[in-house]
Amino acid sequence: MTSATSLLFFAIHFACIRAGNSFETFVKLECKTEYHGVYGQQSIVECIVKPVVEDLTIITVTWKRVGAAGKAAANLLEYHKDKINPTPGFKFAEPSWNKKNMNVSLLLTNTKMADNGEYECEVETDVGTAKATPSLSVTAKYKTPTMSSIPDTNIQENTDVTIFCNSTGGHQKGLIWWFDHSGNNWTRSAELVAKETDDGLFSLASKFTVLKATSSYTNYTCKVLNVNGALEGKASFEIQFVSRNLGSKADNLDSVSNTKWLAPVVVIGSLIIGLLASLLFFKKRSAQRGHQTDTRHDEDVEAKGLNSDSPQDQHSSL
Ligand SMILES: *[C@@H]1O[C@H](CO)[C@@H](O)[C@H](O)[C@H]1NC(C)=O
Ligand SMILES: *[C@@H]1O[C@H](CO)[C@@H](O)[C@H](O)[C@H]1NC(C)=O
Ligand SMILES: *[C@@H]1O[C@H](CO)[C@@H](O)[C@H](O)[C@H]1NC(C)=O
Ligand SMILES: *[C@@H]1O[C@H](CO)[C@@H](O)[C@H](O)[C@H]1NC(C)=O
Repeated sequence: MTSATSLLFFAIHFACIRAGNSFETFVKLECKTEYHGVYGQQSIVECIVKPVVEDLTIITVTWKRVGAAGKAAANLLEYHKDKINPTPGFKFAEPSWNKKNMNVSLLLTNTKMADNGEYECEVETDVGTAKATPSLSVTAKYKTPTMSSIPDTNIQENTDVTIFCNSTGGHQKGLIWWFDHSGNNWTRSAELVAKETDDGLFSLASKFTVLKATSSYTNYTCKVLNVNGALEGKASFEIQFVSRNLGSKADNLDSVSNTKWLAPVVVIGSLIIGLLASLLFFKKRSAQRGHQTDTRHDEDVEAKGLNSDSPQDQHSSL
């Protein structure tokens, strides 16, 4: 950089400083023009006093919200006569701020939608005053949607099923898109109702009816988008059919219980058959035995007869 251009830059810079603090050049208040806050969280509107002279002391600090149509609004935070007067929800961002601390940033402890807008910070020091009007832009995101259906469970084939996709928490009216499991866009068939809630946020409820739903297409996805078309949440839902899966499970259970009751039947049955068989066997055997003893007896008798006969014969022969 040549000395001429750097001199030019310096001149422009100096001119800007002068323009920003036309009423006082010994003190300057530096803030960004816009800060971002998120609903329900802490937000900071950062402003730093830039002393042009050494050893500057702050006398008063006043933080205000600039109302609609630029009307003066209530003080949010004030430092005056060595005393800090805060309003609930607003304080110095520096935990133990004092008049020697040049960081006069404002902290919002729990950001509301109503905190969106323009702020005014005015600082009076022992060498002059400075003022700035930064703004805070508050956003809120939609939460992950919740889904439900009517009817909810044990749905039969070819029933019309209405699926809901609900989400809350957005700071502007959003959109809900619907897709089936193969990515077909069903948004045109859905009905969206957006309501503004008390806290300035929106709630979305979208209703999509699947006509003659079949268990081959059970999975539906909804996506929540903010007003700019950015995705803020998504959820998937499965229609709860009295499905084949459940049916086969029941079948399994049946077959399991079948074998459960079948086993004792088989055991008892085979026991009975075994008993009958052995009974028959024993009966046959005992019948055989009876016959055998009978024959043996006969033999004995015969033998006896023979024996008795023989001596007789012998006798007779003798
Ligand atoms: C001012 O104070 C806040 C809170 O302590 C801090 O987050 C921020 O960084 C400070 N800014 C500067 C420029 O030091
Ligand atoms: C979604 O909103 C609808 C309509 O307000 C309601 O009937 C349904 O129960 C809600 N579902 C869930 C999961 O919150
Ligand atoms: C889905 O359909 C809606 C309504 O017709 C349309 O605005 C949106 O761009 C579609 N989204 C995609 C990802 O195709
Ligand atoms: C449904 O489909 C989506 C997208 O294809 C997938 O991420 C999700 O896991 C599926 N859900 C169920 C319950 O199968």
